[in-house]
Amino acid sequence: MTAPNNEAPKSKVSVDESTVVLGIETSCDETAVAVVMGGTDVLSSVVASQLVEHARFGGVVPEIASRAHLEALPHVTAQAMQQANIDLSRVDAVAATVGPGLIGALLVGVSAAKAAALALDVPFIGVNHLEAHLYAALLDEPNAKFPMLFGLVSGGHTLFVEMLDYDSYQVIGQTIDDAAGEAFDKVARFLGLSYPGGPAIDAAATRGNDKAINFPRAMLNDGLDVSFSGLKTSVINHVRANPSVSTDDVAASFQRAVVDVLVHKARRAARQINARTIALGGGVAANSLLRREMTLAGNTDGMEVVLPSREMCTDNAAMIASAGWYCLRRGEVSTLDAGANPNLKLGAGQR
Ligand code: KG4
Ligand code: ZN
Repeated sequence: MTAPNNEAPKSKVSVDESTVVLGIETSCDETAVAVVMGGTDVLSSVVASQLVEHARFGGVVPEIASRAHLEALPHVTAQAMQQANIDLSRVDAVAATVGPGLIGALLVGVSAAKAAALALDVPFIGVNHLEAHLYAALLDEPNAKFPMLFGLVSGGHTLFVEMLDYDSYQVIGQTIDDAAGEAFDKVARFLGLSYPGGPAIDAAATRGNDKAINFPRAMLNDGLDVSFSGLKTSVINHVRANPSVSTDDVAASFQRAVVDVLVHKARRAARQINARTIALGGGVAANSLLRREMTLAGNTDGMEVVLPSREMCTDNAAMIASAGWYCLRRGEVSTLDAGANPNLKLGAGQR
């Protein structure tokens, strides 16, 4: 296993606004390919979701994911190149997610990216998926001001990150158990809502009363870490004890509890680092209540709020290509024997 940005050879590519990176993302259940120029100019971004394949199992099945990536990657790549409307010879580097994610799924993208890099005689760049989520917000808002408090809220992670600059960041808070998206998915599954759970709860909540049930907000005034496992258990216990309770009310009250915690902690973290900007990323950042409440909180506290488009919140390859461009600019490329790391962490990032 090789971390993407460690011990990598220095790149010989000169990096500027015209440098084109082809990005590949296959860490979970989205096969995505994108072409990005100069780090922020998205020439194309194609995402093929495997939602249908996994929906009947109520979650992502790793073997199915790997096979689906293998099948989808050639035509998703062709589509991305066609939409970008550039010749393959214009590609200066090929970036792929090397972790975290499902190992089999990651290896499909990594192998394809290495093969492409070899064939085109350009560098291969192994990208940290979590770092790419940070760049996704900056793709939509390249002039955002630092310091920035970044809330990375996805299916696998819930992290509060202090960003001092594009290449300088550190994790200052995180979940001690379930990720926010994981809690959405597990509660939705228990309530019999469709997969994936986040959008299903988001929709059900619009019909429910968010004050109907007072679910717990764990660790609210306790540091910058969060916990969602107790909340999930509390939902389960409440529904078991009150079988006729309205599903919409449970969804709304649960969502309100998650959002209250995330907004409260993000504000606390932002104050601590004297943030000028609060940004969100990851799939849960697509949640309508979270977007509304975070905007309100940021405006009240005099901070700029960066909320990427929903397409940029969820997994995509534009963020991988963008992160690849920043790696390249730092002179970091990966060797062709670099592996994938399913447990890759967001590094201290103090480069
Ligand atoms: O970032 P992402 O696409 O994949 C990971 O890297 O995990 O995030 C997926 C997660 C899922 O847990 C999904 O339920 C959640 O994001 N999600 C949402 C919404 N849309 C997606 N959660 C709450 N509200 C939403 N609207
Ligand atoms: Zn993600």
